[in-house]
Amino acid sequence: MDLLHKFLNIVLLPITLTVLLLFMPPFLFLKFLWSFKRSIYRENVADKVILITGASSGIGEYVAYEYAKRGALLALVARREDRLQAVADRSRKLGSPEVVVVRADVSKVEECKQFVDEIVNYFGRLDHLVNNAGVVQIRLFEVFTQFSNIASVMDINFWGLVYSTHYAVPHLRKSKGKIVVIASTAAWLGAPGLSFYNAQANWIPTETTEGCAKAILDSTCSGDMYLTEPSWMKAGFWVKTVCPEVFEWCFHSLFVNWPWTSKD
Ligand SMILES: NC(=O)c1ccc[n+]([C@@H]2O[C@H](COP(=O)([O-])OP(=O)(O)OC[C@H]3O[C@@H](n4cnc5c(N)ncnc54)[C@H](OP(=O)(O)O)[C@@H]3O)[C@@H](O)[C@H]2O)c1
Repeated sequence: MDLLHKFLNIVLLPITLTVLLLFMPPFLFLKFLWSFKRSIYRENVADKVILITGASSGIGEYVAYEYAKRGALLALVARREDRLQAVADRSRKLGSPEVVVVRADVSKVEECKQFVDEIVNYFGRLDHLVNNAGVVQIRLFEVFTQFSNIASVMDINFWGLVYSTHYAVPHLRKSKGKIVVIASTAAWLGAPGLSFYNAQANWIPTETTEGCAKAILDSTCSGDMYLTEPSWMKAGFWVKTVCPEVFEWCFHSLFVNWPWTSKD
């Protein structure tokens, strides 16, 4: 076994790099042709049924408005019903023919089953599920004292997505629909204490929520598998892959050692 690993350690990297070098030019060309075709034949979401979790504020709210402008029927889910009603009113004004709001907590499996059933019974179908509900907790790992706090974040961000998707999949299969997942670059950039979000808002010029929601819709209707918004964030991935030590040093200096980082 050891011998096999030694052999693979020596040969696999050069073979992979050579294959990639040969494969990338035709692949990139095909990708370009494919993206050109998709920019012409975009999905028309008018009268399609769109379920958005976490639609009472932030990205989910603005994604609702983008769908509304394109004439989609909306089902908005979150815990603050008054906020949902306000988003529903504005969505109707922007062009959505029908909007329903459902008060639910995505961290509770039975509530996820209930809202998916309720929405499908009401509209008779489901075309897109937008998994957006989530919370961000910004704190250094060592200052956590209550593990139940971390568990509740996992219950919303991870299990909430799993439950909603599980119950929506049979309906999405019938309609040949789509699942849109609003994730974070923190999944592959691993910023200390997630202070990244915090700091971004203060001194890195990022996109508006509206601009971000529009990019999400354009990408969804074009059938893209992935979207990184703003796209310059991808540079972080390459720096981390090619020279992880430099990346870690920069992040550590910026977000752990500097005075603006909260230590509690
Ligand atoms: N903002 C960013 O820079 C950024 C970057 C990358 C990824 N994201 C991701 O984008 C998503 C939205 O972020 P945001 O910045 O727009 O946050 P936000 O403004 O705080 O919105 C979060 C939404 O999730 C809902 N929500 C939270 N817990 C819920 C629960 N248990 N059940 C149902 N709904 C729940 C909230 O509604 P209620 O409180 O009314 O339930 C709210 O509508 C999150 O998943 C976040 O991780 C954000």
